Amino acid sequence: MNWGNRVIELREAKKWIQNGARRVDILKGISLTIPAGQFVAVVGASGSGKSTLLGLMAGLDTPSAGEIRLDGIPIHNLVESELAAVRGRKIGFVFQSYQLIPTLTALENVLLPYELNVEGNGLSKARQLLGEVGLQERMDHYPIQLSGGEQQRVALARAFVADPPIVMADEPTGNLDSTNGRLVLDLLLERNRRAGTTLVLVTHDADVAHEADRKIVLKDGLVVEDTLPGSPEPLLQSEEKNG
Ligand SMILES: Nc1ncnc2c1ncn2[C@@H]1O[C@H](COP(=O)(O)OP(=O)(O)OP(=O)(O)O)[C@@H](O)[C@H]1O
Ligand SMILES: [Mg+2]
Repeated sequence: MNWGNRVIELREAKKWIQNGARRVDILKGISLTIPAGQFVAVVGASGSGKSTLLGLMAGLDTPSAGEIRLDGIPIHNLVESELAAVRGRKIGFVFQSYQLIPTLTALENVLLPYELNVEGNGLSKARQLLGEVGLQERMDHYPIQLSGGEQQRVALARAFVADPPIVMADEPTGNLDSTNGRLVLDLLLERNRRAGTTLVLVTHDADVAHEADRKIVLKDGLVVEDTLPGSPEPLLQSEEKNG
């Protein structure tokens, strides 16, 4: 099958948690296609399923039902070791809480994906990226010696080091002041525009969502709106449906 440039494809992806006899439905059937190079903002109220959706698309978690493909590779039924290999080649992930390893320097943190997944020596690449995010003087500092904004820039360099075709970020500016938030956002956008990296960004910020090529709104585990800014009508606007 030719998946063309449809880099991320979900078909009726569902996620539920079995809590004793009770099933808690978190995502109730998500179908969407994200073409290569698109900047997609995912918005919605707290608890609507944004992080769960991003985790499924990134292969950090597996769906309870449905299909997910990255670059045509079905990832919905892979075991963790296989998922990790796909993640390593395809995905750079940025968390709200940075998730740096405290016992490693900035440079060593950026090199982590190399050591886990990539052949060869990433040292010059890691140094170059830390320079690009403005941390050339901070490479040998530990996370505790860095501000929040600096830590998140290290996390960006780490997400970019293996040149992934897809970057996913879950409220990457949520813990930052507006100046640092803007800096982090601009680095993500630059990567999207200059390198053509597909960018899926979870955000609470309406202004940020407005800058995206496309806005997907989640409510109670369903996509309730899917809009290309500039087009007057949403691609999809559904009333809330269940099941
Ligand atoms: N492991 C779990 N067990 C039970 N419920 C869970 C689990 N993970 C997520 N949930 C529930 O699923 C729903 C969606 O969670 P999710 O973290 O995806 O929301 P979110 O949209 O990212 O919210 P926020 O904006 O607060 O980050 C929430 O009601 C949450 O409590
Ligand atoms: Mg979340």
